[in-house]
Amino acid sequence: MLPDFVASQVDLTPYNTLALPARARFFAPIRSLEQLALLIGQPEFAGARRFVLGGGSNLLVAGDFSGFVLRMELPGKRWLGEDAEYTYLAAAAGENWSDFVAWTLASGWPGLENLIGIPGTVGAAPIQNIGAYGAEVGDFLQRLTALDLTSGKALPFEARACALGYRDSLFKREGWHLCGRYAITEVVFRLPRNWRARTTYSGIAENLARDGIREPTPAQIAHAVTALRAQKIPDPRQLPNAGSFFQNPKVSAKLAAALRHAHPQLPCHPQPDGSVKLAAAWLIEHAGWKGRNLGAAGMHEKQALVLVNRGGASYQDVQNLSRAVREAVFARFGVPLTPEPVVLADGGQRTED
Ligand code: EPU
Repeated sequence: MLPDFVASQVDLTPYNTLALPARARFFAPIRSLEQLALLIGQPEFAGARRFVLGGGSNLLVAGDFSGFVLRMELPGKRWLGEDAEYTYLAAAAGENWSDFVAWTLASGWPGLENLIGIPGTVGAAPIQNIGAYGAEVGDFLQRLTALDLTSGKALPFEARACALGYRDSLFKREGWHLCGRYAITEVVFRLPRNWRARTTYSGIAENLARDGIREPTPAQIAHAVTALRAQKIPDPRQLPNAGSFFQNPKVSAKLAAALRHAHPQLPCHPQPDGSVKLAAAWLIEHAGWKGRNLGAAGMHEKQALVLVNRGGASYQDVQNLSRAVREAVFARFGVPLTPEPVVLADGGQRTED
């Protein structure tokens, strides 16, 4: 018999910020490593599909799931120590990311302030290497622990082994997260003791300048970031969404130059590898999709990259809109867009097709 913390036939609508409806055959909130160990010992768990869920804020629920959804709610955060260069902090996977950032700031360990307000959990943060306003979690990752859901063994991963990239990591690339092979249980961060303000993102610089702040404190940066996010990204509790729905596309320098020639306003960011990153939001807006709906889904009127559920949207609505937007952008600019969220589906596919 399954342990009593495992529920069955659970509606996943409250567990994904796009509020797409579907049921999980089994649903287990995980609040301790003992619960995980208990589950791993169950014969029903051994051969079943698994999905490791964090805050559900980068998730597309594609339909009913016949396996186990493990919702990581492991609590705990602590100071591990410091050396000449860094302060080291550990947080369990279930901690809310933004609350963790606020705790570091309140405790006098700055560094993560640009990342305040990002929804989701600490354990999910490295999977797509969350980033915003000139910083990403990979800048601060020291190591993490992942539990092998078959053997029950805890495996250490140094930051380099996680192979983090733009909205990407080993875990996302290899589909480990989706296959349910591993669950990240704890993440260790290193915050440079020689703190430097990161204010290169123009919106932050403008916000601070407007308030007459020339040498911002970490708290003032966090405040500016929070204000910027509130202007652009809708609160999922009011308007369900999963943040940016597409990645910013990287194209060849040649294509970027041609596009820039035709559209001088197109935001372009040259990358170290010679490619150029374009602003997907700009492409979507100029393909005519900003603020436009299809069925019960739409692209947000304040940030064209954010796909929103206008009320009662289905996975099919989201897919139809995603396809229409990608087709429009490709037809106008010749640039393919890739969806950012991971997909929870029985088929186990990685991203939307
Ligand atoms: N823009 C438009 N139209 C819009 C919105 C933006 O033309 O409707 C232009 C802006 O003028 C700007 C450019 O597009 O020049 C980029 O926009 P923005 O700075 O708002 O950021 P983004 O590239 O759209 C990325 C991340 C966000 C992160 C912000 C801030 C991705 C996929 N998204 O968005 O992350 O908060 O930068 O750093 O990289 C997320 O991943 O879910 C997410 C919200």
